[in-house]
Amino acid sequence: MTAVTIPGLDHAPTNHARLLSWVREVAELTCPDEVVWADGSQDEWNRLTAKLVDAGTFVPLKKKPNSFWAASDPTDVARVEERTFICSVDEADAGATNNWMDPAEMKAIMTELYRGSMRGRTMYVIPFCMGPLDAEKPMLGVEITDSEYVVVSMHIMTRMGTKALARFGEDAEFVKALHSIGAPLEPGQADVPWPCNETKYITHFPEERTIWSFGSGYGGNALLGKKCYSLRIASVMARDEGWLAEHMLILKLTSPENKAYYVAAAFPSACGKTNLAMLEPTIPGWKVETLGDDIAWMRFGEDGRLYAVNPENGFFGVAPGTDYHTNPNAMRTIEKGNSLFTNVALTDDGDVWWEGMGEPPAHLTSWKKQDWTPDSDELSSHPNSRYCTPIAQCDIKAPEWEDPKGVPISAIFFGGRRATTVPLITQSRDWQHGVFMGATLSSETTAAAVGQVGVVRRDPMAMLPFIGYNAGDYFQHWIDTGKSADADKLPKIFYVNWFRRGEDKRFLWPGFGENSRVLKWAIERIEGKAAAQETPIGHVPTAEELDLTGLDAPREDVEAALEFNADEWRAEIPLIEEWFAKIGEKVPTSLRDELESLKQRLG
Ligand code: GDP
Ligand code: PGA
Ligand code: MN
Repeated sequence: MTAVTIPGLDHAPTNHARLLSWVREVAELTCPDEVVWADGSQDEWNRLTAKLVDAGTFVPLKKKPNSFWAASDPTDVARVEERTFICSVDEADAGATNNWMDPAEMKAIMTELYRGSMRGRTMYVIPFCMGPLDAEKPMLGVEITDSEYVVVSMHIMTRMGTKALARFGEDAEFVKALHSIGAPLEPGQADVPWPCNETKYITHFPEERTIWSFGSGYGGNALLGKKCYSLRIASVMARDEGWLAEHMLILKLTSPENKAYYVAAAFPSACGKTNLAMLEPTIPGWKVETLGDDIAWMRFGEDGRLYAVNPENGFFGVAPGTDYHTNPNAMRTIEKGNSLFTNVALTDDGDVWWEGMGEPPAHLTSWKKQDWTPDSDELSSHPNSRYCTPIAQCDIKAPEWEDPKGVPISAIFFGGRRATTVPLITQSRDWQHGVFMGATLSSETTAAAVGQVGVVRRDPMAMLPFIGYNAGDYFQHWIDTGKSADADKLPKIFYVNWFRRGEDKRFLWPGFGENSRVLKWAIERIEGKAAAQETPIGHVPTAEELDLTGLDAPREDVEAALEFNADEWRAEIPLIEEWFAKIGEKVPTSLRDELESLKQRLG
């Protein structure tokens, strides 16, 4: 057999044999014009952003240094859960919550899609590391992609290029992540600003630690280190190795007595992780610093406590709703530049704008690249438009954010977006009850995934779209994690809801910086200092038991946000039963027991 010659293919900066043979195999299948190994340098960033400007994908922002505006194809704006597959060898391992296809069958279909899919384009090989590079066992991956947008986004979101490749040696394990936008170019064919394919597949082969993504350029579908590796594949690694890979922010909270606590919180996409991670407390003396806004990997330390590491290097945040009132720290971070903005609006003077930033300018270019004025019927920015910005330039990053050891977690919050039923905060009675709260978590769907918005669904631990295996086994893994540890060293578990609404649909709780009051109560519960009411669903504070000093919100609203309503919870029971029935026989007995005792307590 004669080897195909593709420029660049034989100039690899590594001797890692399995990596080299995989790169060759992919190049021969996808037929790019050339192969380029991404090095992560400033020069590479400059070259690729210039290329994207030439292609019309990027518009450089005049008002923010080294920053770019991009508008996607209007059909490629969010994660595609319907097109996301867990192709475990055994269908039962994917469980009732994932799409499944036999791995061989899926590979046959996708191999034909990949055949020649990079024609006319450059194939980039991106070695990357999720989590600190100086970890004892670095979590490595390689993404192959034909999208420059993906390469520059990976510059921000991961530790990648030469410094990551240095940790591969000649035989390190790594996750194989293959991505093609699926838009080959015939000779002479003009490109479009956002090439993608109507056919999309976001596929995971958990046993092989392999990801195949086709057809989309959107973040969650295309930046494969993020949801695909750090949640779907990593959750399987975590199950096998006895740790947790979770959809959680990590924050450091320092009390007026200068005592530091670390909190991890799992909320579904577009339900407040990034905002809580960067919160500016409204109560005096309390300080929040950020370690991560989306993903936490948690392992037990030698002292028996659970330590969390953020595998990411950047924030990929929802833009609309972000401004100096709600999330000043995110605003200050993006203001420094070095950021990408996708599907927001562009101002005439070369800045970005989105809904929630206050008074709109008289004229904008909308995310659909149309003229937009304040009388337009449409939104200027897509509800799932995003900023992508380095954590390193966030003023309130915690100094230990890159410590490979991680930080010991004192509290875990589960939360969702519920207009009714779920109180502002509830403390679980113990770990098992907390796992029950997480496993039965519910939330209204958002624009972060394609589909109808505002429908209540169960979203266990905010991981519904991200559990890489059977959800019943995942619940058992959480139960077992608790059993393997000293109960008093485990984080305490809380259930929160910033989104309860009054009769007139307004939010009952002001949220954002005011959520510091809720954090304070949780920490004081852990310290044994704060009081709570015992209710059938757990420990809920009254308005007196929360620190509301200086809060500008009607007392009745706060009381309504905190209300435990037995009728609403009785109505919730059949929904939980339906959910457990869907998961089937793998629902742990301990969680069925929790449900039974909840029913009894509700009468
Ligand atoms: P993530 O995707 O989980 O990181 O969510 P974000 O923090 O980006 O927030 C998603 C949306 O929820 C944004 O529009 C925020 O403005 C909004 N949001 C975040 N926190 C709160 C809150 O405490 N109260 C209310 N009402 N909205 C919030
Ligand atoms: P998020 O994730 O919505 O949880 O921030 C980003 C995505 O993959 O869409
Ligand atoms: Mn986020």
